Parts: sequence; C-alpha cells; structure tokens
Amino acid sequence: MTTMESLIGLVNRIQRACTTLGDYGGGDNTFSSLWEALPSVAVVGGQSSGKSSVLESIVGRDFLPRGSGIVTRRPLVLQLHRTEEGSQEYAEFLHLSRRKFTDFSLVRKEIQDETDRLTGKSKQISPVPIHLSIYSPNVVNLTLIDLPGLTKVAIEGQPESIAEDIESMVRSYVDKPNSIILAISPANQDIATSDAIKLAREVDPTGERTFGVLTKLDLMDKGTNALDVLEGRAYRLQHPWVGIVNRSQADINKNVDMIVARRKEREYFETSPDYGHLASKMGSEYLAKLLSKHLEAVIRARIPSITSLINKSVEELESELDHLGRPIAIDAGAQLYTILEVCRAFDRIFKEHLDGGRPGGDR
Ligand code: GDP
Ligand code: NA
Ligand code: MG
Repeated sequence: MTTMESLIGLVNRIQRACTTLGDYGGGDNTFSSLWEALPSVAVVGGQSSGKSSVLESIVGRDFLPRGSGIVTRRPLVLQLHRTEEGSQEYAEFLHLSRRKFTDFSLVRKEIQDETDRLTGKSKQISPVPIHLSIYSPNVVNLTLIDLPGLTKVAIEGQPESIAEDIESMVRSYVDKPNSIILAISPANQDIATSDAIKLAREVDPTGERTFGVLTKLDLMDKGTNALDVLEGRAYRLQHPWVGIVNRSQADINKNVDMIVARRKEREYFETSPDYGHLASKMGSEYLAKLLSKHLEAVIRARIPSITSLINKSVEELESELDHLGRPIAIDAGAQLYTILEVCRAFDRIFKEHLDGGRPGGDR
C-alpha cells in the first residue's frame, strides 16, 4: 500500500455512507444522485448459474450461504482489500464493525442471520445492502455486488411477485450508467436463453459495460465446446468473454479447498485441447484482475463528476445541519456530521489521486 487509499476503497466508503443514510437503488435524498454516479460491479445471473461460486473463487474463500431456492435475498456489497503477503485473512461487516471474523463459516452464518433480520424467515427480499469487507493477501482490490438470482417461480411462502421484485431490484443496480455488469451464464445452457444476457442486452445494448462470464465449461456435452461464445461470435460484447470452471457440487461436498480449486481451474485451461490457446485469459484469477483494472479506470475517469456531486452533497448536508441547529440533535445530526466530514476528506483525497495518482495506484 502506498500512502494513498485505493480509489476502489474510497468509492466503497462513500457507498457505505449512502447506505447509512438510506440511499441505495433510488429515492431522492441528498445522496441519491451521488449513489447513482458511483461506479460498481453488479453480479447478475439466473439461479444456479454459478454466481456464488464465481465470487468465492475470486475471493479464494468459502463464505457465501448456499442451498436451493433464493439464497441471496439482500444485495451483498463485497469489498476486497489486498493485504501484505503472509498477513492473516479476516472479514468485517459494516453492521458489526468492531468484530473481526477469521472463521469464514461464521461469515456465512452472519450473512444468513443479517438477511433474516430484515426479511424474516419468510424468504422475502430486501433492497437494503449488507456490506462485507475482506482483507486478504489472496485478493485484488475490488468491490462486487452480489444480487439475488433472476428467477421465474415463487416457492412456498414467497409472494407471487417475487420474480418481478427481484428483477426490479437487480435493474436498479444495472440501470445505472456507471455500473459494470458481471453477467454470469452457464455453458451447459443455450446462451440465447441466458437470463443475465437478456437483461444485459436490454440495459447495455452496445455491450460496453458488460463482462460476460461463462461458467460450467466442464459440464458441456462431450464433443461440444463453447468457442463460439468465448470468441465473441455467439453474442458480441466490447470486453472479451471469460470462461470459468468452478467447483462442482461433488467438490463442495468433499470440501475441496478454494485455492486448490483455483489451481485445478488453471490446469483445466492449460491442458484443454479446445481452450488452450485462450488459457492466459480464462479463469477466476484472470477475471478478478481484469475487473479490478477496469473498475479503477472507470473510477479514475469519473473523479471530476464524483467530486462535484460530493461538493453538492456537502452543501446540502450543511444546510440540513443549519436547519437542525447546532449543537446537533444526537442521532440524525451526529450521523450527518460524520458523513459531512467523510465527504470533505474524500474531496481532498480524490483531488490528490487526480493530480498525482499513478495508474494502478496502490498495488
Ligand atoms: P448461484 O445460484 O448462481 O449462486 O450458483 P452456485 O454458485 O450456487 O452454483 C450452483 C451449483 O452449480 C453448485 O452445485 C455448484 O457446485 C455448481 N457449479 C457452479 N459452477 C460450476 C462449474 O463451473 N462447474 C461445475 N461442475 N459445477 C459448477
Ligand atoms: Na442464466
Ligand atoms: Mg448464489
């Protein structure tokens, strides 16, 4: 780490401030236009397309709730911070900021409990994000938002409208012109029927902010391959497609370690007669690096508009505070005041990045 905090880390801190103020996915509070302007990577795909597996592979850890039905029922804003080689991995939640998790099975349980805390056990969904940070030498600096899987059918106890509710929540993320769409489709289904690609095509018809990810390459019928998709002929995007081989259900049942799984994935591509020529641009490690670089570039390009929105928010917050009268009323006022301070600091740090930041800043 250099003295400057990573741009991706800074943006995530503003995202957290927005969540604290109740601004996410719409609304017209002080911070909603700022929330809209923040670049982020949203993970979309149909149920069982491999979203959780891709995220765990990018992190190199097993930590997401799993099961059948709709497991992800609140957005999970997952921030990855790269730490020094040999340092201990740990996780922290925004809602439990004083507790460091080193046992990742407890992270899984906390995501489940915190999901249920807002949605009950009713299998409803909620747009209020959970913020999780992971500090590890095995990750790149990156923020990803895991969203509920696109689904067609409600199950027992779920409202009839669940499919529409999920779609409109996912849309509130991918509609934002600054959002990067990580569109996950399984290779053992026709790409023309992919829920992720259907949605991406609608909100990003030119494919400039969509990264296509093809999972389950190992599950294709013998004698077939996915070169039409991976080489961009089946569905064209501005960014290259990335093929992935995640752990199978049998691997998960056997507790195959994520780092071992990453190695097996690399070997799969290196030794594949079909994909060998693409090996250096396939797999979850490559995907993570690609996304990190792209997210940072997008943020860097948006610094001027983000800082001007921050300044506008600062002005609005100041007049709100004046309106409340100082000394500030305890809860709301104190919170606004803290956020105001945070914003002023961002404005300064962003300007430093703009003036002196070298590309790739903190890695
Ligand atoms: P999600 O519902 O989109 O989050 O999908 P999951 O990541 O939970 O994956 C659903 C199932 O597909 C699990 O049993 C995974 O083990 C399996 N799976 C996901 N990706 C792959 C893959 O690339 N290869 C194989 N063989 N299985 C996979
Ligand atoms: Na899909
Ligand atoms: Mg999942």
